[in-house]
Amino acid sequence: KPSVGLVGWRGMVGSVLMARMVEEGDFDLYNPVFFSTSNAGGKAPEFVPGQDAGTLQDAYDIETLAKLPIILTAQGGDYTQAVYPKLRSSGWDGIWIDAASTLRMEDSSVIVLDPINRNVIDAALESGVRDFVGGNCTVSCMLMGLGGLFRHDLVEWGTAMTYQAASGGGARHMRELLNQFGTLNQSVATELADPASAILEIDRKVLATQQDPALDASQFGVPLAGSLIPWIDSDLGNGMSREEWKADAETNKVLGLGQHAPAGVDARDRVTFDSLCVRVGALRSHSQALTLKLKKDVPVDEIEQIIDEDNAWGFVVPNTKEATMEQLTPVAVTGTMNIPVGRIRKLAMGPEYISAFTIGDQLLWGAAEPIRRMLRIATG
Ligand code: HSE
Repeated sequence: KPSVGLVGWRGMVGSVLMARMVEEGDFDLYNPVFFSTSNAGGKAPEFVPGQDAGTLQDAYDIETLAKLPIILTAQGGDYTQAVYPKLRSSGWDGIWIDAASTLRMEDSSVIVLDPINRNVIDAALESGVRDFVGGNCTVSCMLMGLGGLFRHDLVEWGTAMTYQAASGGGARHMRELLNQFGTLNQSVATELADPASAILEIDRKVLATQQDPALDASQFGVPLAGSLIPWIDSDLGNGMSREEWKADAETNKVLGLGQHAPAGVDARDRVTFDSLCVRVGALRSHSQALTLKLKKDVPVDEIEQIIDEDNAWGFVVPNTKEATMEQLTPVAVTGTMNIPVGRIRKLAMGPEYISAFTIGDQLLWGAAEPIRRMLRIATG
């Protein structure tokens, strides 16, 4: 069994990853070596009863890391930045699998989403690529739903209007949102208990609570509960947020299009993809409304068939009110591997224009699952 170094297994993404590895029996396939940035020498976790993984190793100890053929990290970008260059310059040529974005757009790395780009991953392994990085959650979830249309070379351009969950910011962001919901509710609890109270008075009080500087909004910067924030990640200074920039850059890189086409993979023209990314008060599933311009007029039933057949997780939700409300909400999707794609119809602009709405659990397909699967691919 190959030894695998695991870093960042305790955080939010790491915990989801460990749970998936237990569920899929992955720990039977590897000897896990657990690293810690804060508790080296402590007892390693026992995710599988009876599998004693010894003591925690120091996640900053290059020599110990360099003994492993494969390292998987969900520790975050700062860790990657601090450790990865040192590890490589020490001569280590093992496989580095990373959930953070630090190395994502390097020419030396591949963004992993194997149900969509197994051909790109295989070509990369063949040609000696050693860095495999999980994609941006929004891009990965979008491609798990609609990748089939891209893979059939049907998309001329696309745009996504996103509705992104608090978990994309991190665990503390989720807590902040829930605390805000609680505070808002408490501020009008008496009035809510009285059906005869005036709704506009309730509304006024809630707004006053949202605007009160005492409301804790330290993570998101402004209140999110009962509101939204149409900016995610840093300001690139050109009117675009980094999250929006990733939509085009990563979509093309995942698909291996244009300059990202690896040796042995057909270089197709890149797809122009743009988006407007919005944080909403959902907890951990990212939703997005897409407009796609297809290269030709494809009937809706063919579009649906391509989506349904593309991979085992993306599926079409009939474009009816009932099915949409039942299956196409963050509440329906969270905690599952499902990637529903609904609201598919031709738009008024012409027969090549379609709409779609898709949702994915930001911690599963958006973060943990692609790298969990990459670990399996890397260990054969
Ligand atoms: N940037 C994403 C978000 C999460 O903030 O929702 C990580 O891909």
